[in-house]
Amino acid sequence: MSHLLSIDSLSRDDIDHLMRVAGQMEPIAQRRKITRVLEGAVLGNLFFEASTRTRVSFHAAFSRLGGSVCDTTGFTFSSMAKGESLYDTSRVMSGYCDAIVMRHPDQGSVAEFAAATHVPVINAGDGPGEHPSQALLDFYTIDKEFALQGKTLQDAHVLMTGDLKYGRTVHSLIKLLARYAPMRITLVAPPGLEMPHHLIERVSRQGLTVGVRESLAGDFSDVDVVYTTRIQKERFTAEMSESFNLSRDFTVDRAFLDSRCNASTIVMHPLPRDSRPEANDLDVDLNGDPRLAIFRQTDNGIPVRMAIFATLLEVEEHIERDLRDVPW
Ligand code: CP
Repeated sequence: MSHLLSIDSLSRDDIDHLMRVAGQMEPIAQRRKITRVLEGAVLGNLFFEASTRTRVSFHAAFSRLGGSVCDTTGFTFSSMAKGESLYDTSRVMSGYCDAIVMRHPDQGSVAEFAAATHVPVINAGDGPGEHPSQALLDFYTIDKEFALQGKTLQDAHVLMTGDLKYGRTVHSLIKLLARYAPMRITLVAPPGLEMPHHLIERVSRQGLTVGVRESLAGDFSDVDVVYTTRIQKERFTAEMSESFNLSRDFTVDRAFLDSRCNASTIVMHPLPRDSRPEANDLDVDLNGDPRLAIFRQTDNGIPVRMAIFATLLEVEEHIERDLRDVPW
């Protein structure tokens, strides 16, 4: 694994390896142990689009492995504001840093950046393209939750709902789940925001059973995971922005979970969720409900991102013997 740009580059063995290494990172992520295994290494954390979780958790993950982090946030704080190209930025940054995390609004831009560098690059979201580290932490979360419930991945039924067109996390996650086929996926999206057809065709060929429904009405009692996503209005064309109104019919809330799902169904969301009332995103009425796994998901971002760094920089074998007790 030289970069992490898309789930396409990961085999099932690669994913299993990352999940195992993430498990080994738990004592560090939970602040029971420390390591300095990346002491002396520098991460370039380049975010040209808004982020809280991904930016801070990559920063924290690299720091907890003993490395240092340079952050650049937004175009105005980079020389791209003066017209510098991705190619030149990439060549410069790879002279300063040992690994680079990058988020950018244009699909394909992180791969273009990676092609010009000789250090590992991680795609932290390229427009509506992919967000592979999010899919890995989502999968790590599903695996952990299923282990607690005594469920198996092969029998899983995952409902994906919300913005399946522009939501890059679901594009990566459906590709990842296809590595673990057979498994059932049901897709429910507002009109115009459906999962791209080529992705449905592809994962179906790989053995996922994919069903499409028009709304959240009806029975979902055999669903194990509800994965809902924010409507990405920032990616809408002007005409879409004018005409689009999301009805409550696509909202995941306590009433939906209680009346249409089952007692062990968990609810996931990559976050952020849009808290404005007109957004009709995942409802806050589920806050405090143990079925809501969203903050367990965000916590899992740290061990998974540590595992990504350790694997890309090939230090995963050294961590076990470098572990020390926390002195604070
Ligand atoms: N899930 C996610 O990518 O969140 P941020 O946009 O806050 O990084």
